[in-house]
Amino acid sequence: MKNVEIDISQAIPFIEESRFGEMKEKVHSLYPVLLSRKGKGNDFLGWLNLPASVSPALLKDIREDAERIRSDSQFLVVIGIGGSYLGTRAIMDALSDPFSYLKNNKSLQILYAGHNLSEDYHASLMDVLDKYDYSVAVVSKSGTTTEPAVAFRMIHEHLVKKYGKKNAAERIIAITDASKGALKSQAIREGFRSYIIPDDVGGRYSVLSPVGLVPLAIAGISLENLLEGALSMRERLLRVPAGDDNPAIQYATVRNSLYRLGKTTEIMVSYRPDMYYFIEWWKQLFGESEGKEHKGIFPAGAGFTTDLHSMGQYIQEGLRMIFETVLSVEEPNRELRIPVEDNNADGLNFMAGKRISEINRMAELGTLLAHVDGGVPNIRIRIPSQKPEFLGQLIYFFEFSCALSGYTLEVNPFNQPGVEAYKKNMFALMGKPGYEKAGEEIRNRLR
Ligand code: PA5
Repeated sequence: MKNVEIDISQAIPFIEESRFGEMKEKVHSLYPVLLSRKGKGNDFLGWLNLPASVSPALLKDIREDAERIRSDSQFLVVIGIGGSYLGTRAIMDALSDPFSYLKNNKSLQILYAGHNLSEDYHASLMDVLDKYDYSVAVVSKSGTTTEPAVAFRMIHEHLVKKYGKKNAAERIIAITDASKGALKSQAIREGFRSYIIPDDVGGRYSVLSPVGLVPLAIAGISLENLLEGALSMRERLLRVPAGDDNPAIQYATVRNSLYRLGKTTEIMVSYRPDMYYFIEWWKQLFGESEGKEHKGIFPAGAGFTTDLHSMGQYIQEGLRMIFETVLSVEEPNRELRIPVEDNNADGLNFMAGKRISEINRMAELGTLLAHVDGGVPNIRIRIPSQKPEFLGQLIYFFEFSCALSGYTLEVNPFNQPGVEAYKKNMFALMGKPGYEKAGEEIRNRLR
């Protein structure tokens, strides 16, 4: 199998050699801390083994459920938020035809719910669910997160009205904790099919567990290739002693060296719109893992060349606190060439016969140099092509790098204490029992 590779040659010139050396030493010293499970948050390291620990029996169950659901549903509604849905959406979008829903395609499509609290979004979704046969995968590790719980309550009611209680239950798969949470209790009570999110795997590191595997299999994605890719990256990163060719060590070293130089924002860039949600997944992984104790690189995202016509100006000439990491896909899956035009009215005949991907590649290389010249260091992640095996490699690479990078920042990369603050205020404002006093105080502040 070909490999995802990292190219840091356009970032290195920005970093003093001795500083880079010190950081490299620090990252190297943290690598065994991660692997020997002696670092912060070490009870959440189950993801390290995920691609290897998915058993044939689990895959068989998933495949059987996928076949059943595909035979009686036109849509699968994935209900979840944050790590419980972003990985699925990232892989789905990266591997799907963006216009399949307009092509009279009979294959099952995925719809998403419970990742926002927009009334209009969910009302509009219900209009679709009125008309088509569908099933639901409700994903929540805690089983108590408000957004998916609200969506599931509505969609569950809709399912029961449409199919009756017993048939509705057969259309629901709950993916949740082994024993805790409201969703688990409901799944047992009502007889939903359910899958377990391992205790030691946190939401944003869970895409290779049933959280991602179940909906992706239902959508027809090859789990074997995805897991094989992740496994090959795991073997590569766990090869001890970790040498200079370890891409996760290189990535963690470069981004933390740049951070200490005041480059506090990392923009993850893709030249393909179908990677938009992959970047959203990466933003969540790094943002929730590193942004704490008033520290952390701010993870931003951009889609080029589209955003070169909006954010390009800022990146080229704005405040110099940015570095860029480009997801560079080497081979497209389809072929499309620029036609010749007799009168050459648009002056584009110099491109005639060339593939669109070649123009995209020249845009990428030209932008890379322009941004480097403008003071924006560049890291390039080279991806042979957009296939499940390379997405599997990328996922494991970023998860491992994120853990290592979080340790370099001396934070716990596996918790997210900061996300509780908005929830407390929301519950207080909604009048949740137990929040009466807080509710009064907040209302006074909002007057
Ligand atoms: O990474 C995380 O832990 C979070 O983003 C969670 O995935 C998210 O908050 C959803 O939580 P839950 O799966 O408990 O509903």
